[in-house]
Amino acid sequence: MIQLDEQQRRAYLDALGITLWLPREQRDDAVNSDAATVEIVQQQSPAQPVSSLGWDGLRDCVADCRLCELHKGRTQTVFGVGDQDASWMIIGEAPGAEEDRRGEPFVGRAGALLDEMLRAAGFERKNVYIANTVKCRPPGNRNPRSEESAACRAYLDRQIELVSPDLILAVGKVAAQNLLGSDEPVGALRGQRHMFGRIPLIVTYHPAYLLRSPTQKRLVWQDLCLAKMTVAEAGR
Ligand code: URA
Repeated sequence: MIQLDEQQRRAYLDALGITLWLPREQRDDAVNSDAATVEIVQQQSPAQPVSSLGWDGLRDCVADCRLCELHKGRTQTVFGVGDQDASWMIIGEAPGAEEDRRGEPFVGRAGALLDEMLRAAGFERKNVYIANTVKCRPPGNRNPRSEESAACRAYLDRQIELVSPDLILAVGKVAAQNLLGSDEPVGALRGQRHMFGRIPLIVTYHPAYLLRSPTQKRLVWQDLCLAKMTVAEAGR
């Protein structure tokens, strides 16, 4: 279970639109003793909970987000791109340097390989919706930490709800483990059908891994075939 400190707990509650009631003396304490907390709480006060935002409100909310440390190093948030009514939703890990510069997911070398994977499955990039588990670039391209993924989770959940895809393709360990609440490696999660709520979810290798291990491309091809079959069998 993820442990939240008091500052994070207040920020999450506030982001969800839940007002934390405190006795006056504690309120005064909070204001006097923790100016940083008050600042974060104020910056995270959407008029509506994330789960009820439309596309524009969600995009603005993400652009202003300071729920975790990653906001400090970003050039900009990387929200997501593509067809908001797509049949396939692709979920990756986190923006890298190029994505942080351009504000679009999967535009570096890994992105070019993702485009190839999509073409193999019969899609152009513009026909799918692409998002990441976290919307800000982790420093040094490290994996997002669990508290960073947790802080960003409501945004991803809302994107999934809004797209309402026929299929989610989770690319790489970070996306797969986060969405499935698992700590199994990709090798164990791929090759089978999972469900994310009522949405079928297929796991495959991350294109950045394929750049290092091109022989695994044949397994990705199998995963893409499984994804296509899954959607076809559901009559979509
Ligand atoms: N890797 C990801 O997982 N997402 C990106 O946007 C870029 C690289």
